[in-house]
Amino acid sequence: MNQIDVLIIGSGVAALQLACKLRHDINVMIITKSHIQESNSYLAQGGIAAAIGDPDRSEKHYFDTLEAGRFHNEPSAVEGLTDRAPSLIQSLAQQGCPFDKDEKGKLLLGMEGAHSEKRIIHGGGDATGKTIIDHLLPRIPHHVKVMENHFAFELLVEKDICVGVKTKDENNQIHCFIANHVVLATGGCGQMYRYSSNAETVTGDGIALVYLAGANIVDMEFIQFHPTLLYVNGKTQGLVSEAVRGEGGRLVTETGKEIMKGVHPLADLAPRHIVSQTIYEYLSQGEDIYLDISQVKDFSKRFPTISRLCQENGLGLEEKRIPVVPGSHFLMGGIQTDLIGRSSLQGLYALGEVACTGVHGANRLASNSLLEGLVMGENLAQWLNSQSFSKRIRSESSYCQESADKRMGKPLPTIEEIQKRMMDHVGIVRTEEGLTEQLQWLESFVGEHAGSGNLDLMDKDELTRYFMVITASLVTKAALHRTESRGGHYRMDFPCEDDHNWRRKRLIHNRKVKE
Ligand code: SIN
Repeated sequence: MNQIDVLIIGSGVAALQLACKLRHDINVMIITKSHIQESNSYLAQGGIAAAIGDPDRSEKHYFDTLEAGRFHNEPSAVEGLTDRAPSLIQSLAQQGCPFDKDEKGKLLLGMEGAHSEKRIIHGGGDATGKTIIDHLLPRIPHHVKVMENHFAFELLVEKDICVGVKTKDENNQIHCFIANHVVLATGGCGQMYRYSSNAETVTGDGIALVYLAGANIVDMEFIQFHPTLLYVNGKTQGLVSEAVRGEGGRLVTETGKEIMKGVHPLADLAPRHIVSQTIYEYLSQGEDIYLDISQVKDFSKRFPTISRLCQENGLGLEEKRIPVVPGSHFLMGGIQTDLIGRSSLQGLYALGEVACTGVHGANRLASNSLLEGLVMGENLAQWLNSQSFSKRIRSESSYCQESADKRMGKPLPTIEEIQKRMMDHVGIVRTEEGLTEQLQWLESFVGEHAGSGNLDLMDKDELTRYFMVITASLVTKAALHRTESRGGHYRMDFPCEDDHNWRRKRLIHNRKVKE
């Protein structure tokens, strides 16, 4: 393909929705680091939130989103999302997306934490992400070229305009793709933590790429820890959806004490940061925590994915309890964009978890992420479809000259080292001491390996670790800066929200601006 009009990096719902909605007379390419079905979206269990039941209304969904986000949200983004949700679900259902329905053909609505109404539309019981991706994939127009196993490692920027991307293929060969519009939809950074629900590929590359290119990144301190990841043999093995608690699951100790009783009026369905922090306290005191499913009707029928996951890990469901721990799940911050997806760098856009419109505030409301990806994919498509696509005369080869001088910095840490240290120092509970120690450690690697030519000479494994270090340092720096607790950011030394100094105050990183 000589001239790419829209280059999409990533293959979750936001990327695929965009590819499906772009006009057919332009050249579109999707580049993905792994296989097209490898994404957090594909793993999403719970569902999509939309106020379609009675007596629900979009205003209630709007308010629940702000409340869960601890009012750090951008209200216009929340309004756009919650207002659009019902018609989006209707159009997907009309196109034949097989959401779960009752015997009369009415969409079934589930309940999840911090929602004031039942409004979670789901597919395949607990396989909503897979249901939507499997619906979108065959709808991608034939002219959209898909390049799998291409790791994007540098954004090409010319006169403050993003003009393309450099990638490495499975043999570490470098490729350059020049495009009129570059869209990052690479997901968050969940795999930066030892315990995570995220796909293995979600290591924070998109954030690091953009930081190195000099565009704005915001709200990085807000990481959501999902309360219930299946925990077997000292490792997390995948998500146990919040929808299980929506159907009557209860968090208990070994002896059966219900740990959320009296902690929050919504008990087990309190916002995620509160549930995760409560579990963390019990775990720190040496107690094991379980999800008691004895009150959940027809568990294996309603939750086939989770049932299979338990079986694969040698857990029989007869015991009616699942061992769980919290783990990193979602990045609320990311590349700062407007409500179309435009970043602060011309020609560069971001969608889905890697982006931050401010819609999720300090803590995302359950089942708002697939929704955001679909809505934002559509918004950007609408805007791009109205653009004229002038030809840019640039030669790919001028960017593809490999640098020869590899700077030998201190060896980068292993992925396991980064994950463990991030969990210990920048996890569910943070302190100035731990954050400072971690930042010093991370920064001892960042400067050493900088420089564009040097990236050419790193292999994919080194690039992954380097990008993890950069993204981790942005999270750590922001967490050290915010001297309050809010949503997904909890400081033991500043345990309360400080509305006077911090409400809606955003911390912006940009490599070119002195922070
Ligand atoms: C879940 O199923 O618990 C995850 C849903 C979400 O994060 O929105």
